[in-house]
Amino acid sequence: MKQLPRKTDKNLLVGYETSDDAAVYRLDDETALVHTADLITPPVDDPFLFGQIGAANSLSDIYAMGGRPVTCLNLIGFPSNDLEPEILHGIVEGALSKITEAGAVLAGGHTTDDDEPKFGLSVTGIVHPEKFWRNSGAKVGDALILTKPIGSGVLFNANLKGWVTSVALEECVRFITTLNRRAAELMADYEIHAATDVTGFGLAGHALEMARGSGVLLNIKSSEIPVMSEALAMYEKGMTTGVNAANRAIIKDECQFDSSLSEFQRELLVDPQTSGGLLVSLPESESKRLLRVLHDGGIPDASIIGYVTPASDQTHLFFS
Ligand code: CO
Ligand code: CO
Repeated sequence: MKQLPRKTDKNLLVGYETSDDAAVYRLDDETALVHTADLITPPVDDPFLFGQIGAANSLSDIYAMGGRPVTCLNLIGFPSNDLEPEILHGIVEGALSKITEAGAVLAGGHTTDDDEPKFGLSVTGIVHPEKFWRNSGAKVGDALILTKPIGSGVLFNANLKGWVTSVALEECVRFITTLNRRAAELMADYEIHAATDVTGFGLAGHALEMARGSGVLLNIKSSEIPVMSEALAMYEKGMTTGVNAANRAIIKDECQFDSSLSEFQRELLVDPQTSGGLLVSLPESESKRLLRVLHDGGIPDASIIGYVTPASDQTHLFFS
């Protein structure tokens, strides 16, 4: 996207130059629009759950900017010759349940014929033009909080082979159908310096974008990262995903690992997430208080996973 031609507009506060989660456009001194669009292929067979996951995943980018979603448009690819219309209805119903939970409204959308089902939303939200969160801005002395466990990518792939227990799969689905709304609302009272949501590039990829954009080093302690049940075991059994290699390549020049981390633990750090948690950077002095508030607010897996220190060479990420 960086190479695309562009027109500048002083009201476009966030465009595509900084690989942020959503675009932000100022309407006036009080209000800015937040725009995002995303669509995914089904990680699960159940149409209703697929709709919920696709919607939660798309809404998440609004929360990652500190915004409030307002209107949503369905973006649907559907093989109408091969699949029953009930499946499409199930997907949209699932999405609708999450859109409603988000306090937003489904205002329309577009369906196109496709070889396999795809679903997502284009979401428009609002935010204060001076109070939104960028994915850069992390400061030395900050602590990093992650609100959801990682590992959904390898679990969904392993599930295709029947390797995952139903308990672990249900737990995974519960995590990724959970909106980041509550987490973002609780964070609104804190001095968030940078925020993003963890999605396709994995924890390492999204953390690197934050570190690079902020000109700092993120020191992340692997033992503090919340991980979904059985996710590490799936890598140890030889499972991976179609994007781990690409995600590894993205971070390789700017990321270092402590030698004690196994190759499988490193794979987990680039495991692609769907509808992952929020990763935020805030003053260390506020982080313990926010962590308590998140735990008390029904987000028990939130964890302080590391700290922000000065960048020395080209290394922007260190996992110990
Ligand atoms: Co995002
Ligand atoms: Co996105």
